[in-house]
Amino acid sequence: MPRRAARTAAPPIEAIGVLTGGGDAPGLNAVIRAVVRTAVGLGWEVYGVRNGFEGLITLEGIDPLDLDDVRGILHQGGTILGTSNRTNPFEFRVEQRGRVITEDISSRVVRNLEELGLDALIVIGGDGTLRIAQGFHEKGVRLVGVPKTIDNDICETVTTFGFDTAVATATDALDKLHTTAEAHQRVMVVEVMGRHAGWIALHSGIAGGADVILLPEIPFDLESVCRSVERRYQSKRNFAIVVAAEGAAPRGGKLLAVGPKEKGRELRLGGIGAWLADQIERRTGREARSLVLGHLQRGGSPTTFDRLLGTRLGAAAVRLLQGGHFGHMVALRPPNVTSVPIARAIHERRLVPLDGDTILSARAMGIAFGADPA
Ligand code: F6P
Repeated sequence: MPRRAARTAAPPIEAIGVLTGGGDAPGLNAVIRAVVRTAVGLGWEVYGVRNGFEGLITLEGIDPLDLDDVRGILHQGGTILGTSNRTNPFEFRVEQRGRVITEDISSRVVRNLEELGLDALIVIGGDGTLRIAQGFHEKGVRLVGVPKTIDNDICETVTTFGFDTAVATATDALDKLHTTAEAHQRVMVVEVMGRHAGWIALHSGIAGGADVILLPEIPFDLESVCRSVERRYQSKRNFAIVVAAEGAAPRGGKLLAVGPKEKGRELRLGGIGAWLADQIERRTGREARSLVLGHLQRGGSPTTFDRLLGTRLGAAAVRLLQGGHFGHMVALRPPNVTSVPIARAIHERRLVPLDGDTILSARAMGIAFGADPA
């Protein structure tokens, strides 16, 4: 662990920390590798921080990363640094007299960074992690962000790494489910990830030939879903494939979750697929089965696209630090990777535009979104 006497003037960058926060996404290792190789090329030292911001609180496992440490990881899923979506230093959960309360321990993290001698940070994460990064930027920590999520819902970047791999995994599953659905003349309901935005459901649904796609952005009408399923059978296609994002909900209905919401944590979504299969079977009399793809979508080797994007973002993040663009995030704006203030990227979510060409084309192809008239 690097330790240096505290200094007063802003030092030039000699040593940086890199951390990955939030749910993992294929391509994280490509980013880490690019950060290390680019930073080492500038003569900087790089320290890997374990388990997201947790590592800056516990100070466990802050170790140097050199070229050898990032050899052979480009094609690997997960993150060599570990991650956590439970630790927010601004709302740190502590138990007090049997009750969970939250405390702001962010100043401790700032002190830790100074004592460690880390001149700047590269924070790789989704909206939750980037929000924390923004908080530290406002406290004077020199940092830049790298957007990450398989859900693809971060603003100001055309896409995020991990999404392409997740869509490929979901599409592959849909291909496989087609044959068994057809063999048994069943309705297969596939629940995919997508908490606020239905990008994975939309893209995999279209690429995988789904008949009905349900998105968080379009509250659905169960009768309309059943009519679309029945229409398939009436047209002698004796099976149907329904893809539902975990964040899809019926009009006026609630999100389905696993367990109650815990303080300072996101609601754990899940169950919409099983609920839909049950409702469809009851209402149409067609046999239905459901499948939750869950964390499979976060695993596996990143696609070529995600490796390349992760590499470009990682290298660009180092350039941002070098140029002093603190508080900014790298963003894909084809043909280039550019930068935007983190504050702009976290102020809203990138949802599926309902008037975009993808939805328009899907509708024109006869794909239903559970909200169509009779
Ligand atoms: O943010 C990405 C995501 O994949 C969401 O779609 C999903 O709700 C969540 O992660 C699951 O997180 P966890 O692994 O903490 O249950």
